[in-house]
Amino acid sequence: MSKFLLRGGRALEGRIAVQGSKNSALPLIAATVLTDQACEIRNVPDIADVRNFLEILGFLGASWEFRNHHLRISNENLQSKPLPVHLVSKLRGSVLLLGPLLARFGEVQMSYPGGDAIGQRPIDVHLEGFRRLGAEIGESSDQVSVKVGKLIGEKIILSVTSVTGTENLVMAALGASGQTEIRLAATEPHVQDLCRFLIEMGAEIRGIGSPNLVIEKVSKLKGATYTVGPDDIEAVTFCAAAAASCGHVTVEGVELNNLDAPIALLERMKVNFRTDKGQIEILPPRVPYAGVRIVTGVFPQLLTDYQPLFGVLATQCQGETSIHDWIFEGRQGYLHALEAMGARVKFEDAHRAKIYGPCELQGTEIVTADIRAGASVLIAALVAKGESVIYNAEIIDRGYENFHERLRSLGAEIERVNS
Ligand code: EPU
Repeated sequence: MSKFLLRGGRALEGRIAVQGSKNSALPLIAATVLTDQACEIRNVPDIADVRNFLEILGFLGASWEFRNHHLRISNENLQSKPLPVHLVSKLRGSVLLLGPLLARFGEVQMSYPGGDAIGQRPIDVHLEGFRRLGAEIGESSDQVSVKVGKLIGEKIILSVTSVTGTENLVMAALGASGQTEIRLAATEPHVQDLCRFLIEMGAEIRGIGSPNLVIEKVSKLKGATYTVGPDDIEAVTFCAAAAASCGHVTVEGVELNNLDAPIALLERMKVNFRTDKGQIEILPPRVPYAGVRIVTGVFPQLLTDYQPLFGVLATQCQGETSIHDWIFEGRQGYLHALEAMGARVKFEDAHRAKIYGPCELQGTEIVTADIRAGASVLIAALVAKGESVIYNAEIIDRGYENFHERLRSLGAEIERVNS
């Protein structure tokens, strides 16, 4: 288990560019399964989730080259084979192969996907959608199989607005005859990125960015080139780190249109910042940060992924911050770590907690359990007095490329020890 060693107390300073979005890159790579022609995807983050996803495609017969954030992939020789647990358990995103493999081969079998320990991660919405398109589902305690003679376009109303569920059903619908309508679809920027890439591949999709998607049958999809959009979660991570450390950091290469909810929250917290085309500049505070009410939602509301990042910033705010994250029931783990560092936290139930600030955090030793919790405690360690050790650095590698070196470029005292 690798670890980060940190000494806190330094205000971050400088400029930092955000990478391509993990949650866009994964469905885009999955979508390449829909064609036997080569595809090129640019601005792909070089993170463990992407490498592990490519390893799964390699197992199925894909050939690819991934260098300098540029991926060239050919699925010409792809085969549908049962996906073993040791591959799919590495990332939740592996579930994204169900839709395109079903569309291309009419059958797919995999172990249940793994991923972050942030709560139950059911896939009933995905499976119910496949069933509506005519597929038969087989489930055992550890495996799921989806099989169909012929996918037939249908109207699907999602029982829960699921991001990867929407992505999977859009991709499956491209193998269906006629028209498919997906209602209560997720509208996240990564879902939009996927739809735009599919259009480049020759798909007909209407309603992009709205909860009503209409997908028309097309005869054959072709190879295409696409550039992954910026990672909004990474943008918020750097903003939170800069603000929590009372630093002065310009976060570059962001898509401000995707960031209304976090920008509104920074304002309510009285963080001193300004925005300009494609950037957010966090400035040293002019007034104390203010405690607020944080409620997560689906895009364009505040994403659950931002919650642990604003949660750590709340330890530096005056007064009470209440957090209500209804999406996952396991997203409070980082608060226990913050508590161990000296934060005053009141847990109300699995979804709600209160933080009373400002708190003087003390360095400590922490084992982190998910990507965003990892980033959150790492920010806490940057603010804390003294030294911290964050174990399980690999989990942060799943979503952030070269995180420690990029933070070091902003003046953070952080080392990585590999083991
Ligand atoms: N849900 C169901 N049934 C389903 C699917 C989801 O009840 O079949 C529920 C979930 O339990 C949850 C809610 O629906 O309460 C939303 O889950 P969703 O399916 O949207 O999450 P996901 O698609 O598994 C993606 C991101 C997550 C991000 C969530 C929410 C990817 C690869 N992952 O997960 O990203 O937290 O959407 O925005 O896109 C991360 O990047 O660290 C991360 C965890």
